[in-house]
Amino acid sequence: MEFARRTRADLSRLLMEHQFGVDEVLTKVTILREEFLHLRRYNPIEHVTSRVKSPESLVRKMVRRNVAPSVDAIREHITDIAGVRITCSFIDDTYRVLEALVSQDDVRVIQVKDYIANPKPNGYKSIHAIVEVPVFLSTGAVPVVVEIQIRTIAMDFWASLEHKIHYKFDGDVPDHLAESLSDAAMIAEQLDHRMENLHREVHGEHRADEPDVPADFDEDMIVRMWQMMRESGAN
Ligand code: GTP
Ligand code: MG
Repeated sequence: MEFARRTRADLSRLLMEHQFGVDEVLTKVTILREEFLHLRRYNPIEHVTSRVKSPESLVRKMVRRNVAPSVDAIREHITDIAGVRITCSFIDDTYRVLEALVSQDDVRVIQVKDYIANPKPNGYKSIHAIVEVPVFLSTGAVPVVVEIQIRTIAMDFWASLEHKIHYKFDGDVPDHLAESLSDAAMIAEQLDHRMENLHREVHGEHRADEPDVPADFDEDMIVRMWQMMRESGAN
C-alpha cells in the first residue's frame, strides 16, 4: 500500500520535472526563432512539437530494456522521457539550430547522433541530441534530460510515414514496402537539396544584416527625436 503510494508519487514527480525540462527547451527554441526572425528576417524553424512519455510507455520501455524500477535507474537509462522535435526548412538550418542550442551555457550535451550525415539503414534521417538542462524548483535546481530531434520537413514527412508503416506491421515491414520507403528517403533527400539550392539562388546565403523594421515604425521621426534629445543635452 505504502509502496504503491510512494511509487505513484515518485513517478508523477519525475514526469512533472520532465515536463518542465520540455518547457525550458521550448523557451530556448522560441527565443532562437524570434531572434533569427528579428536579426535575419529569416525563420529557420518551421514547427516544433514536444511530448512527455506516458507512464505506460515509460514502463513498457523499462521492461524492454530491463531497467530497475527506481527513479535513479530511470534517470540513468531512459533518456527520452522528455522529447522536443524541431522541424526546419533546410538541412543547413538543422545544424544551425543544433549549434545554437548546444552552445548555451546551461545546456549540457550528453550525446549527439547525426543520422543526417549517417542515415539509418532504412533511410531514417534526423539529428538526435540528448541534453541536460537545469530546472529550477523551490528546492533548488534539478538537471533534466531532454531528447531533441532536429530534421527537415522532408525528413519529418518520411519519418512519420515510416513510423505508421512500422507500427502497422509491428516492425516486420514487408520487403516491397521497405524498398519503397528506402526509395522515398532518397527522393526526400533530393528534394531537400533541390529546395536548398533554390533558396540559395533566390536569397543568397543568409547573413546577419540590419534588424527587421516593423511596418508602422516611423524611422525618420525616431531619428529626429533622437537628435533633438542629444542636442538638448538629455541625460
Ligand atoms: P528508442 O528507439 O527510443 O528505443 O531509442 P534508441 O536507442 O533506438 O535511440 P535512437 O536515437 O535510435 O531513436 C530515438 C528516437 O528516434 C525514436 O524514439 C524515434 O522517435 C526516432 N527514430 C529512430 N529511428 C527511427 C526510424 O527508423 N524511423 C522513425 N520513424 N523514427 C525513428
Ligand atoms: Mg530506436
